[in-house]
Amino acid sequence: MIQHKIRKAVIPAAGFGTRFLPATKATPKEMLPLVDKPLIQYGVEEAVAAGCTDIIIVTGRGKTTMEDHFDRSPELEAALIARGKTELLKIAYSVTRLARISYVRQPEALGLGHAVLMARELVGNEPFAVILPDDIVNVEGGCLAQMVGAFDETQSTILGTEVVEGDAISLYGCLDCTPHPTNDRLVAVSNLVEKPKPQEAPSQNAIIGRYILTPRIFEMIEQLTPGSGGELQLTDAIKALLQHERVYGFHYAGQRYDAGDKLGFLKATVDLALQHDTVGLAFRAWLKTQTF
Ligand code: UTP
Repeated sequence: MIQHKIRKAVIPAAGFGTRFLPATKATPKEMLPLVDKPLIQYGVEEAVAAGCTDIIIVTGRGKTTMEDHFDRSPELEAALIARGKTELLKIAYSVTRLARISYVRQPEALGLGHAVLMARELVGNEPFAVILPDDIVNVEGGCLAQMVGAFDETQSTILGTEVVEGDAISLYGCLDCTPHPTNDRLVAVSNLVEKPKPQEAPSQNAIIGRYILTPRIFEMIEQLTPGSGGELQLTDAIKALLQHERVYGFHYAGQRYDAGDKLGFLKATVDLALQHDTVGLAFRAWLKTQTF
């Protein structure tokens, strides 16, 4: 059997980000910064840390600042050189050297499945990763690298999974699954239920915004009947994939934040600020002086 490697990562970033209005009216949600880096950069860095060399960002109208972010900025670089700001120059330049980044447009925000389908030509016929940039996982080495390890073992579709408490399961795609015989981070998936009522959830295993998918997913997405609002859901396509291939859930190590939601974004900001190289200590000292 051919041993596939995960070289490409798709980052869907064409949604409206309505939970962050009005901030996201003219600014992509994916460009909102956690301390000093936009969400999309955390996603790209995680993909690179997992060994991906090619990143495909799915963009849409009003999202061009993402392309500018990863591109050279000769005026800024010249100004920093003229002022002798070599450290800042390094920071600005290193962003442009992270990976080979391509962009593909999603003409309308017709759901996550549709966004992934837009990347089909650029992905080709090989397994690939998907990172939702508003799910931030804070862990040394990154979440995707752990999942790539599980893919190397199984050569199958892997869904990032987390056990959530109580009724929270009704906010997620939920896995019907059984433990893997030898790897205690893996579960074998037999069914997926999108946002189940808590009493109908087959488990507390929620799907998070990290996926490794085989290229057959594109056929499955194409065959979907659009749901409400013409949306094509990735979980429906993965459910269809189960008829053809094995699918596993992977219990990653690390702390996840739903940075697409205001409260999650604030929690991520505080935790990443506390760990930050230059402002962490001062921020901690200031927080301690606050009475809540
Ligand atoms: P979300 O559902 O979290 O993002 O999708 P959203 O729709 O932009 O946000 P809200 O719910 O309105 O606040 C997860 C990721 O998938 C992308 C989003 O940009 C986000 O990064 N996405 C979603 C697309 O690229 N296209 C879509 O049609 C939907």
